[in-house]
Amino acid sequence: MSGIMRLGFVEYQVPDLVLASNFYEQVFGLIKVAETPERLYYKCWDEYDHHSVVMKKAADLGLIKIGWKVEEESDLSRLEKKIQDYGIETRRVPGGEELEIGEAVSFVAPSGQTMWLYHKMTQVGKAVIPPEIVPHDLPGIGPTHLDHMVIAAEDLGEMVKFLTTVLGFRISEQVLDPEGRPIFSFLFLRSKPHDLALTTGPKGKFHHVAFYVDDSDAVIRAHAIIKGAQHRVDVPPSKHGITRGATTYFYDPFGNRLETFAGGYLTYPDFPTITWTVEHLSAGIFNTGGPPNLEKFMAWI
Ligand SMILES: [Fe+2]
Repeated sequence: MSGIMRLGFVEYQVPDLVLASNFYEQVFGLIKVAETPERLYYKCWDEYDHHSVVMKKAADLGLIKIGWKVEEESDLSRLEKKIQDYGIETRRVPGGEELEIGEAVSFVAPSGQTMWLYHKMTQVGKAVIPPEIVPHDLPGIGPTHLDHMVIAAEDLGEMVKFLTTVLGFRISEQVLDPEGRPIFSFLFLRSKPHDLALTTGPKGKFHHVAFYVDDSDAVIRAHAIIKGAQHRVDVPPSKHGITRGATTYFYDPFGNRLETFAGGYLTYPDFPTITWTVEHLSAGIFNTGGPPNLEKFMAWI
């Protein structure tokens, strides 16, 4: 079993922290847990770790790092050795270098994104206490948790090999070209349809960060909130063929693409990979609905 439990946090750049605060708190409905002059830290209401989203002030957009939370302290040194044996340099990050995070292992994946493995993050608890089951005072969309990311890889086959043989991901679905090479790969850790997906694209880039909402009604509601607040929608409420999730995509005020995602099937370690061919690609990505502007939707961040 992979020692990695889940996508724990993502850090990316935003040009204006005040504008980011307004959007992510009032419209997107995240909970601010900390801030510094350089960074904002957020969690979703049903998460219990200190944060799952970090935004750093910078002139341009861009991904800073992806954090994977491992189950046991010993997973850190075990995976660190596997990464080094694969030929990738690692750095031990002392506990406390990053706010509320213990010791970590940092490395650059073959696809160019910086990734961290960590075991400890301060737990602050969920935003609801029994008998509450939903937060009563949260504005905006209010996703329950960070769900998955889609990132670019110049050499998709190489990145899939690294993720599966070193980090312990499994492939839930893939789209193969006529020569049998993957052009989209969807990978999972424990029981979700995907925790990370990849497609061919420029080194170090990402496509979107996805957050979970309860069901397809919540996806429709998210779209209505984004439209009502006059932010840019990328894909109106639709249904993925691959993962079978309900989805809508939109942008934060700076052009970071966000997704709210609901549903999807369960996976287990013996899940047989579902393979799609290129001729069914469009039905795979969007079974129902889809982007009005495909070129815009395919742009990398
Ligand atoms: Fe997604």
